[in-house]
Amino acid sequence: MAEYDYDVLVIGAGPGGYVAAIRAAQLGLKTACAESGATLGGTCLNVGCIPSKALLNASHHYEAAHSGALAKHGIKVGQVELDLPAMLADKDGAVKGLTDGIAFLFKKNKVDWIKGLATFQDAHSVDVGGKTVTAKNIVIATGSSVTPLPGVEVDNAKGIVVDSTGALALEKVPGHMVVIGGGVIGLELGSVWRRLGAQVTVVEYLDQILPGMDGDVRKEAAKLFKKQGFDIKTGTKVTGVSVKGRKATVSVEPAKGGDASVIEADVVLVAIGRRPNTEGLGLDAIGLAVNARGQIETDHDFATKVPGVWAIGDVIPGPMLAHKAEDEGVAVAENIAGLTGIVNHDVIPSVVYTHPEIAGVGLTEEQAKERGPVKTGKFPMMANSRAKAIRDTEGFVKVIADAETDKVLGVWIIATPAGDMIAQAAQAMEFGASSEDIAYTCHAHPTHAEAFKEAAMAVRGKPIHM
Ligand code: FAD
Ligand code: NAI
Repeated sequence: MAEYDYDVLVIGAGPGGYVAAIRAAQLGLKTACAESGATLGGTCLNVGCIPSKALLNASHHYEAAHSGALAKHGIKVGQVELDLPAMLADKDGAVKGLTDGIAFLFKKNKVDWIKGLATFQDAHSVDVGGKTVTAKNIVIATGSSVTPLPGVEVDNAKGIVVDSTGALALEKVPGHMVVIGGGVIGLELGSVWRRLGAQVTVVEYLDQILPGMDGDVRKEAAKLFKKQGFDIKTGTKVTGVSVKGRKATVSVEPAKGGDASVIEADVVLVAIGRRPNTEGLGLDAIGLAVNARGQIETDHDFATKVPGVWAIGDVIPGPMLAHKAEDEGVAVAENIAGLTGIVNHDVIPSVVYTHPEIAGVGLTEEQAKERGPVKTGKFPMMANSRAKAIRDTEGFVKVIADAETDKVLGVWIIATPAGDMIAQAAQAMEFGASSEDIAYTCHAHPTHAEAFKEAAMAVRGKPIHM
C-alpha cells in the first residue's frame, strides 16, 4: 500500500492552486485539490478578474452607446436603456462557464477535487471537512481576501458598505458611490458604476492613486480619470463610515491632519488592499510561521521551511496577480516532480483594465534611477496612426533602459489595448532585449504596438512620427 493517499495535495483551487494541480497531474503525479468554496477557480474566476472584466466590458459598451460617443463615428443610436439584471446575469454566465471549465479540466487530468476546508494535522496530513487526507507534498495556495478597514463594517448582502464582491453585484446603480482606496479595484469597479451612471468619489490616503506604478503613469492616469468625471480626493483618510437607512456617511480628514468633513453616499466600496489567507489553516501544527505581512515565505523553488510543504500565489510575497499565481503553480509542480520550475519575478506585468488600460512591467523610472543612470523614451498615442484612426488617442508608451547597456528595465503604457501591448514588452524583457532590439523589430502598421517601437526609438534619439 502506498505510504500516502496522494503524491500532491493542493490546498485552494484559485489560479495558483488549480494550475499547480493540473500540471502535477500532467507530470504523472497522483494529485488532489482541496477547495472550501462551492466552485473551483478561487477569487479570480468567482469574484475577481473574470466578473470584473465582464462588467468592465459591458459597461464600456453601455457608456459608448448612451453617452453619444458613437456619434463621432457616424453612428446614431436611439434610446439606450440599461438592463442591469441582464448585465449581471451575463457576468454570472461568464463566471459559470469558466468555473465549470476548471471542473472539466480536473476530470480530464484526473485531479480529485476534495470539497471542504483544509486544516493541517501534520506536514503530510490534512483534515478536509472531517476526513484525513495524506500526501507526500502539500502545496498551500489559499490566496487572499479583502483587508478590512478598522471600524468600517462591510455588509455585501445589504449593498451599502461593500467590498469588491458586493460591488460586482449591486442591484441598483448608486446615485453616489464613495470608493475608499485609489488602487486597482477602486478604479476598475469605480469605472463600472460611473459608466452605468453613478457619481464616483475616490478617497485615497496617499498623495497619488495607483501605488507601485511609474510616476508619469500615476499623474497621467489621475488626469484621465478626473476627465472621465471621477472626483479623486488624494491625501485623505477615512476615519469612519456610518449607515442610516439606505444612506452612508463617510467621515474623512486630510491624511496629514486638518479639518474633518463628511461625504454622503448611497454605496461605499472598501478597496484598500488584500491580505493572505492563513487563518484556520493550522500552520501551528506544522511549525510554520508567517512574516510580518501575514505571508508564507518560500525559497526560489516555492518550498517553505517545512520539508514537503510548498506555497504559491497571493499567500506568498509578491504582487497579488492571477498570472503570477498561475506561473508559480506550474513552477511548483515541476519542482515537486524533480524538474526545474522557475518564475522570473522581475518580469511580471500588471494591468488596470480601465479605459484606456494602464499597464506596466519591470521597474518604474523612480526604481530604475535608484539603481543607476537610465535613458527613457516616451511616445504619445496621439501620434500613433491606429489610435488616431479610431479616435482614441489618450496615453503614451514609456520605455526605461539602462544608460550604459541599453537593456530595457521597464515599460509603462497607457493606451486602449495596453493590457495586450504589455505582453510584447514582457517577452522582450524576458529575452534581455535592448531598446535598440525593439526599435529595429518590424511592427505591423497600423497598430498600437508601433507606439512601443517608437518609444524604443525615442530612447536612442528620435522617433519618426514625432
Ligand atoms: P485565490 O484565487 O484567492 O484562491 C484561493 C482559493 O483557496 C479560494 O478558492 C479559497 O476558497 C481556497 N481556500 C482558502 N483557504 C482554504 C482552506 N483552508 N481549505 C480549502 N480551500 C481554501 N488579478 C489579475 O491578475 N488580473 C485581474 O484582472 C484581477 N482582477 C481582480 C479583480 C478583483 C475584484 C479581485 C478581488 C482580484 C483581482 N485579481 C486580478 C487578483 C487575483 O484574483 C488574485 O491574484 C488571484 O486570484 C490569486 O490566486 P490564488 O490562487 O493565489 O488565490
Ligand atoms: P491596492 O493595493 O491596489 O490599492 C489600495 C489603495 O488603498 C492604495 O492606493 C492605498 O494607498 C489605499 N488605502 C489603503 N488604506 C487606505 C485608507 N485607510 N484610506 C484610503 N485609502 C487607503 O488594493 P486593491 O485595489 O484593494 O486591490 C487588491 C489587490 O487585488 C491588488 O494587489 C491587485 O493587484 C489585485 N487586483 C488586480 C487587478 C488587476 O490586475 N487588474 C484588479 C483588481 C485587483
